[in-house]
Amino acid sequence: MNDQFFSQRIYLRPLTLNDVSQKYCDWLNDPQVNQFLETRQTTLNQLKKYVSDQIADPKSFLIGIFDKENNNHIGNVKFYLLDEAKKRADFGIIIGDKNYWQAGFGTEATKLAIDYGFKILGFNEIELGVLAENIRGQKAFSKAGFKPITVKKNYANHNGIWHDAILMEIKKYIR
Ligand SMILES: CC(C)(COP(=O)(O)OP(=O)(O)OC[C@H]1O[C@@H](n2cnc3c(N)ncnc32)[C@H](O)[C@@H]1OP(=O)(O)O)[C@@H](O)C(=O)NCCC(=O)NCCS
Repeated sequence: MNDQFFSQRIYLRPLTLNDVSQKYCDWLNDPQVNQFLETRQTTLNQLKKYVSDQIADPKSFLIGIFDKENNNHIGNVKFYLLDEAKKRADFGIIIGDKNYWQAGFGTEATKLAIDYGFKILGFNEIELGVLAENIRGQKAFSKAGFKPITVKKNYANHNGIWHDAILMEIKKYIR
């Protein structure tokens, strides 16, 4: 229980290889879920390798989001340490179980993850890139306290089409 971090409806804990399931794999292959993500397609074996690589990488922190009521694995957040001196990390989130969309779970998980990043992982600054078309993501991140800082032109290419992204950040001491 020590490595669990709670809010009202969810908890976070580091992901393990045991959390890799067909359900988790299906999220990443769902065109609605992966619409704004880099990962568009994966197999169970590729996912096991990915999770095991993240666990082995000291700069990467892959954390599961779980429903407190039934321990259902509903998504993940991920931090990647970008700058050791500044303690600045990149952030990403997926609520893979679409039954949990549009009910404030993305906002709640982002808020909890920010606390986790600052208090448990010792970061001072967290940034993220969200595609301009991903209004749902931008709303959840803004409600959790992220502020837009710049627009990155041609940030990601999906099926031959370039998409701009909004770079957002939150700092530990300016909140
Ligand atoms: C992005 C994501 C984390 C948001 O989670 P969520 O639980 O649906 O988000 P919330 O319910 O907390 O908030 C979503 C907000 O967007 C709004 N919204 C959703 N679709 C919208 C649209 N098309 N236009 C305008 N607003 C929209 C909702 O109304 C809600 O705002 P409100 O609470 O003020 O009504 C989740 O949808 C997800 O994981 N998506 C797939 C992966 C992804 O895109 N990750 C982010 C990559 S940067």
